[in-house]
Amino acid sequence: MDDLNALKTELMDSIATADSLAALEAARVAALGKKGRLTGLMKSLGGLDPEARRETGAALNTLKDAVAAALEARRAALAEAELQARLEAERVDVTLPVRPRRQGHIHPISQTIDEMVAIFAEMGFAVAEGPDIEDDWHNFEALNFPPGHPAREMQDTFYLPDRDDGAKMVLRTHTSPVQVRTMVSQPPPIRVVVPGRTYRSDYDMTHTPMFHQIEGLVIDETTHMGHLKGCLVEFARAFFNVDDLPLRFRPSFFPFTEPSAEVDIGCSRAGGQIKIGNYGDWLEILGCGMVHPNVLEACGIDSKRYQGFAFGMGIERPAMLKYGIPDLRTFFEADLRWLKHYGFVPLDVPNVAFGLTS
Ligand code: DAH
Repeated sequence: MDDLNALKTELMDSIATADSLAALEAARVAALGKKGRLTGLMKSLGGLDPEARRETGAALNTLKDAVAAALEARRAALAEAELQARLEAERVDVTLPVRPRRQGHIHPISQTIDEMVAIFAEMGFAVAEGPDIEDDWHNFEALNFPPGHPAREMQDTFYLPDRDDGAKMVLRTHTSPVQVRTMVSQPPPIRVVVPGRTYRSDYDMTHTPMFHQIEGLVIDETTHMGHLKGCLVEFARAFFNVDDLPLRFRPSFFPFTEPSAEVDIGCSRAGGQIKIGNYGDWLEILGCGMVHPNVLEACGIDSKRYQGFAFGMGIERPAMLKYGIPDLRTFFEADLRWLKHYGFVPLDVPNVAFGLTS
């Protein structure tokens, strides 16, 4: 028995002083492994007479259980300590500056969206979003395009299989359905811009099947066409950074606005290059108008009480003009060399007060 007590002290000691999981495993093998001290004693039980075997056997079992429990407790403590040490060693200081050589770049489309949103946010617009896969009602019907209306043909729609409830589904052809979603879900006053992807079945030098638009919508009791003009003049001058940039509002047609206009900005095409500014030539950049009463009513808004304006603008073209990107299709080729050249520094977030571009 004294021998067993001495062995217990020895084994417990070797467990308590094991300072790594590897050292602990060695201690386990030395005690309980195939050739371990305890295992050896267990094997020798067969040579004892029955009385001694019972007594020693019980004592050995108790010791074995105690050793196993001590091993497990030490294993848990060592694992916890190892984890703590690793967490400590692998700590990242997020306040360190980004390593310039390893830096990714912000795509010019994302940057342009951020700039446009920053300008409109400064005027008090919130950002709204909607789904890329849209039903016919939101994309067309509620926007005053009745079934079979010729204006639908202008949009080169991608059609999708009908939804289970029979609704006709499309890839949204413009961001205008988010006007409808916004008016259906919140009461006026409304002041939102909607940047997002849009889709049309078209592919050539100046069209890609997926492109981006930003929509604007203002609804309240007093907003009129003068506010629309002021808002867009302010936007275009801030975005292109040209203080005297002239804007021209030409009468146009959209089913969801009345009256409707297309807006041109001043430019020059001298030498085959487009330059934005007060140079006497014109370039169309967006469509706009006063929201049609039928659209307000389709969205459950009283058109006798409420009115407002909407506009919709492509994002690629202004981005190309502002940043001198010559070919639309390169936007979506995912060429890293192109992105390194035309991309933006990630931490350079556009802000009207501190300047929009780097
Ligand atoms: N949704 C139109 C298009 O994609 C653009 C547009 C025109 C949007 C006039 C508007 C608007 O909100 O008022 O061609």
